[in-house]
Amino acid sequence: MVSRLYWSSLGYFRPSIIRVLSFGNSLSGGHCKSWLFQSFNVLVVIGSFLFFLVAMCSGYLFMFPAFQPVVHSSGTNMSTDLGNMSTDLGHGCNVFDGRWVPDESYPLYNASECPFAELGFNCLANRRKDKGYLKWRWKPKSCEIPRFDVLAVLDMLRGRRVVFVGDSLSRTQWESMICLLMTGVEDKKSVYEVNGNKITKQIRYLGVRFSSFNFTVEFYRSVFLVQPGSVPKRSPKRVKSTLKLDKLDDISTDWIDSDILIFNSGHWWTPAKLFDMGCYFQVGGRMKLGMSITGAFRFALNTWASWVESTINTNRTRIFFRTFESTHWSSRTRQNCKVTRRPLSRTKGRERSPFSDIVMNVVKNLSLPVALLHVTPMGAFRSDAHVGPWSDTASVPDCSHWCLPGVPDMWNEILFSYLLSQHRVILQ
Ligand SMILES: *[C@@H]1O[C@H](CO)[C@@H](O)[C@H](O)[C@H]1NC(C)=O
Ligand SMILES: *[C@@H]1O[C@H](CO)[C@@H](O)[C@H](O)[C@H]1NC(C)=O
Ligand SMILES: *[C@@H]1O[C@H](CO)[C@@H](O)[C@H](O)[C@H]1NC(C)=O
Ligand SMILES: *[C@@H]1O[C@H](CO)[C@@H](O)[C@H](O)[C@H]1NC(C)=O
Ligand SMILES: *[C@@H]1O[C@H](CO)[C@@H](O)[C@H](O)[C@H]1NC(C)=O
Ligand SMILES: *[C@@H]1O[C@H](CO)[C@@H](O)[C@H](O)[C@H]1NC(C)=O
Repeated sequence: MVSRLYWSSLGYFRPSIIRVLSFGNSLSGGHCKSWLFQSFNVLVVIGSFLFFLVAMCSGYLFMFPAFQPVVHSSGTNMSTDLGNMSTDLGHGCNVFDGRWVPDESYPLYNASECPFAELGFNCLANRRKDKGYLKWRWKPKSCEIPRFDVLAVLDMLRGRRVVFVGDSLSRTQWESMICLLMTGVEDKKSVYEVNGNKITKQIRYLGVRFSSFNFTVEFYRSVFLVQPGSVPKRSPKRVKSTLKLDKLDDISTDWIDSDILIFNSGHWWTPAKLFDMGCYFQVGGRMKLGMSITGAFRFALNTWASWVESTINTNRTRIFFRTFESTHWSSRTRQNCKVTRRPLSRTKGRERSPFSDIVMNVVKNLSLPVALLHVTPMGAFRSDAHVGPWSDTASVPDCSHWCLPGVPDMWNEILFSYLLSQHRVILQ
């Protein structure tokens, strides 16, 4: 019963409640204020201009949504099953609607002292010189994310199995989680990869055990979540491989017996990684050559949804799905990008993604609770936080992956604060 109650509290992560509204931000506000101030100093002697300037600037102010009252024009009502939940995140606070604020107490760890942060994501170790990008914290509009309490989290995870499934962005969150947790472990040698493996891009399984706390944090590489298939006879020549959209990845049986299960998918659903490689879609043994990528993504996610409904015991397993992690490429060909020194003040449409929309629609339709980590809007501001040219392989700059420490730490902070608030409810 208790489980049922606390599960129902997941409501406030449900898409019906997630509204990406106006992205109020202090950056544009700051600009406007200082501009105003300087202008006054200069123009104060020219009295006749003063009036004109005030009028101009109020017009200017009106053009910035940050200065207007935020209207929460929620299209749907909050689900009522939230009623009895009191959590640190606050009633119905959408933690994904907010802004980045400077915070000198960040970062939370040093990647060079964490053996599980891969060199490719450790930008400082790859000669990134500016450090401002490390000093930002996500601030939801109507609540605070409680400060990361490593000992409380380590304690909560005792005896648990945490499983990440997805692509390299999942691996980043996995690495970030391990590095965050290791800051609370005195004997660093008590934390080890169960098979003694090193982190590589292609590896299908990595499991890190925190032996003094009796839990593991694991990563399964499954970039499409569904199974690769063979090429049926009499297929056109261009078909070199297929994806069976109606079959979940064959390693999925290993995901079932877990306590916390976090999925993602999206970055591999591109023409360059599919059609250009000769990879086409298949359903029920038949080729679907005309199917669009977003159509295929939706199909695959529905396969995932049926799998969740038929195999996962939600009395035990808490399921999360992370939405699309924003990229900042300067062109569609993904050859160029410029990493900025500060976060963007406007997201310019990057706060939305068709992949995120599909994830939200599929999750909304599930009869079981799945918590959405809707990271698309928060990532959209962070053109300063990508790996860029500071990776261990200097080829093209990388504006998909994030530096560690960095943005994925915030995904974990949100995940932890959420799990902790649930944990306290159970203990009561
Ligand atoms: C989950 O918990 C509920 C309530 O305690 C119980 O009725 C149900 O059978 C449980 N489901 C499973 C799959 O154990
Ligand atoms: C929200 O709830 C109010 C009152 O309960 C109701 O009048 C309104 O139609 C609801 N709106 C939506 C979009 O469901
Ligand atoms: C909280 O739960 C109690 C008992 O289940 C119920 O009577 C009460 O109305 C609920 N409160 C809210 C705000 O939903
Ligand atoms: C991180 O740790 C390394 C190795 O201990 C050290 O050289 C470096 O100065 C540290 N970096 C920061 C930013 O503290
Ligand atoms: C470790 O956790 C498992 C559950 O994952 C539990 O069965 C076992 O008893 C725990 N071991 C210790 C020493 O607490
Ligand atoms: C929602 O689920 C129902 C039944 O499971 C299905 O018929 C419908 O197509 C689903 N809708 C979407 C948008 O996936």
